[in-house]
Amino acid sequence: MAAGAGDSKAVHVALTTCIPEVKDVVAPQVWKNHIKQVLFSEAAIKAKTAELAKAISKEYSGKEVLCVGLLKGAVVFLTDLVRQLEVPYQIDFLTVSSYGHSTTSSGSVKLKKDLDIDPKGRHVLIIEDLIDTGTTLAWIKHHLASKECASVKLCTLLDKSSRRTAALKDMKIDFCGWTCPDEFVVGYGMDFSENYRCLPFVGVLKPEVYAKN
Ligand code: IMP
Ligand code: MG
Repeated sequence: MAAGAGDSKAVHVALTTCIPEVKDVVAPQVWKNHIKQVLFSEAAIKAKTAELAKAISKEYSGKEVLCVGLLKGAVVFLTDLVRQLEVPYQIDFLTVSSYGHSTTSSGSVKLKKDLDIDPKGRHVLIIEDLIDTGTTLAWIKHHLASKECASVKLCTLLDKSSRRTAALKDMKIDFCGWTCPDEFVVGYGMDFSENYRCLPFVGVLKPEVYAKN
């Protein structure tokens, strides 16, 4: 299942069927046959980020917020979201790894880049593309717990709630875009083996694509 970084097999799988919704919006076109289904369209995502930004602005009214994105999957979502906030904010990033070049979490989280801004006394909003088992978020919440933040809240575009491990079932998500079916999804920042992040929608990747790797 694992594909090496930059492995051309992940990009050039020769599949022939293309669903109508993706025909004209996929660039590069070499990926147009790789999507099984569009779950969330570009227009739906645009409306959802506006709705989330409104709710977040209301929650932090009169305060400043430190928006912490998880590299790299959350970058596209974060940049769309923060530009619609009506409260002052700073941006920082954390890099952790749990997936590598696979479609399933390894279950162990490693910190690769910590925050540049000291979160002490700040209202921290963690911004994620997708919560799957919840392992990454649980680790990050634990990581921030000793840093004396004024508050820590969580925003995710997608929640694969059916995949949450039993121990993390009660994890509170303060701002959530949509519940996501248990499928491997790509686009709008989310990748498989570093590809597909540029797709303007969130779609299900055909299993044939990663089965070949
Ligand atoms: P968790 O630790 O199992 O919750 O995994 C969370 C991270 O795995 C997310 O931040 C995503 O970046 C990545 N991830 C989980 N499922 C998918 C998927 O279907 N497509 C792309 N990335 C995923
Ligand atoms: Mg992520």
